[in-house]
Amino acid sequence: MAFGAGARHCIGRHLAEYLCTHFLSGVLREFDLVPVHDVVVKFLATVSVTPSSVPVRLVPRPIYEFV
Ligand code: HEM
Repeated sequence: MAFGAGARHCIGRHLAEYLCTHFLSGVLREFDLVPVHDVVVKFLATVSVTPSSVPVRLVPRPIYEFV
């Protein structure tokens, strides 16, 4: 319930979700996600199953120039 609920729920929810999607897609455009294998991940059962970390390394993608 990140954005609350009921009559006073967050009116910026859709903007916030759009901006998060825009940000994440920008990260994925610019970086490759490379798995890191030497990290122990613990999973915590809360409302959903939450990993203690997401062991990936962000590696900048090469810049291709078309001339
Ligand atoms: C990740 C981003 C955001 C989170 C997690 C968030 C979360 C929340 C939460 C929990 C509330 C209280 C809801 C309740 O009382 O039940 C709230 C209220 C509100 N939020 Fe956000 N919010 C975010 C982004 C935004 C943005 C981008 C805007 C505007 C551009 C915004 C505008 C508002 C306003 C005006 C209220 C008060 C609504 C009212 O009291 O009637 N929020 N938000």
